[in-house]
Amino acid sequence: MNQHETPLFTGLQKHRDQNPVPFHIPGHKSGKGMDEEFRSFIGENALSIDLINIEPLDDLHHPQGMIKQAQDLAAEAFGADYTFFSVQGTSGAIMTMIMSVCHPGDKIIVPRNIHKSVTTAIIFSGAKPVFIHPELDDRFGISHGITSEAVKKACEAHPDAKGLLVINPTYFGISCDLKEIVRISHRFDIPVLVDEAHGVHIHFHKRLPLSAMQAGADMAATSVHKLGGSLTQSSVLNLREGLVSHERVQSILSMLHTTSTSYILLASLDAARRHLAIHGRELMENTLSLADEARHRLNQISGIYCPGIEMLTSTATIDFDPTKLIISVKKLGLSGYDVEVWLRDNYKIEVELSDLYNILCLITPGDSQEQIDLLVKALEELSEERGDTEELENIPVKVPEIPVLSLSPREAFYSTTETVFLKEAVGRISAEFVMVYPPGIPIFIPGEIITQENIHYIEENVEAGLPVQGPEDDTLETIQVIREQRAFQ
Ligand SMILES: Cc1ncc(COP(=O)(O)O)c(C=O)c1O
Repeated sequence: MNQHETPLFTGLQKHRDQNPVPFHIPGHKSGKGMDEEFRSFIGENALSIDLINIEPLDDLHHPQGMIKQAQDLAAEAFGADYTFFSVQGTSGAIMTMIMSVCHPGDKIIVPRNIHKSVTTAIIFSGAKPVFIHPELDDRFGISHGITSEAVKKACEAHPDAKGLLVINPTYFGISCDLKEIVRISHRFDIPVLVDEAHGVHIHFHKRLPLSAMQAGADMAATSVHKLGGSLTQSSVLNLREGLVSHERVQSILSMLHTTSTSYILLASLDAARRHLAIHGRELMENTLSLADEARHRLNQISGIYCPGIEMLTSTATIDFDPTKLIISVKKLGLSGYDVEVWLRDNYKIEVELSDLYNILCLITPGDSQEQIDLLVKALEELSEERGDTEELENIPVKVPEIPVLSLSPREAFYSTTETVFLKEAVGRISAEFVMVYPPGIPIFIPGEIITQENIHYIEENVEAGLPVQGPEDDTLETIQVIREQRAFQ
């Protein structure tokens, strides 16, 4: 295979160059039938490949031509047996992974800090989650991945689980011991599904953590659009066949996908794969050196701390991605949210995220020295402005016990509900999610029995000013619970 080729992107251009006369959708027909201002803004080139699955252009639902060739090249680049393109984001790929292995009633082992697409897939499939607590980091108030020891315990207690989902690396770029986790899980024939939303680039440089395919995982949902240079919404699902069949994955992926797949998004995946395969190492080399420099300079600023390798202290944190700058600002006496707003108002800088103590800034191949200089300059100015202010009080991150799951999340989702006062909800089955973000760990999810400890925990967090999110009633006075069957109603 030739990684310099882009069968899909090139095929679309060739089709356009033949000047076909379209009597098919999209009805704008290369932009001629659309709003003029939008047409000139988007440009002729993009509009000319905004096409659909007519015969010469293959079909994502049954790829046999140029889409199949593009996916095969991607599989080679990512070290997978099969790669499937997704235009339903990584959320669609995650749902596909879970629904490919779980039938109604099957167990799936998952960390408690899962993305909402995991919960959605658990509801769709009727699976029963077995939760593992991720490791918490009090220094930064964030959650990391799961330890190999916790995975071993969960597999021993639930050898009948049909899958193990791992988030690797985390949003903050921290990696667990994925290779060891795969080894443990495979001893029980449990396939490992990796949420690799934040790690498309790690496959392409030795200094970065092992990718899911390098660690031997069975499937990975990988956001090419986040850090790999394709357009927003486009992702891939990588598969190592053995415990999971590619036919099953293809049919579930197709069930969850629109029939009107965007060829602009698909072509962007084809081109991003070429860029990563050919230039990935060199791109990441430059990005890493910019990030190293930024980390070093940020750590010279009074009140700012941008951690590096010293953050790694357990099997939940064995490696990290230096291109993610976790910038702790609590010594400035400001929250991460305050700093986010200050940077926007004063320097037009937009960060990736902010939380109580930190901002997160991503350094990618799209950055240059100029952006690093600006970020450092802005934080130097903020630090000077703050002078010797008092450090923000450290509120240790605690998580409550995981409540008993009384109904599967799917049963809870489809049950009749009623609203009760939160104070009076002890013993009732929650129909809603309640979580504290950060660190983004649910206090309870639909189907779990509410305990006094949960309610107390919510009250404590609200009092401490931490953002408790989830229920329809954002004052948290009431909560939706499953309606109880009464003899006479
Ligand atoms: C950990 C994690 N998993 C999955 C996703 C879903 O990715 P996408 O937005 O491509 O659907 C995200 C999105 O931010 C995420 O942070």
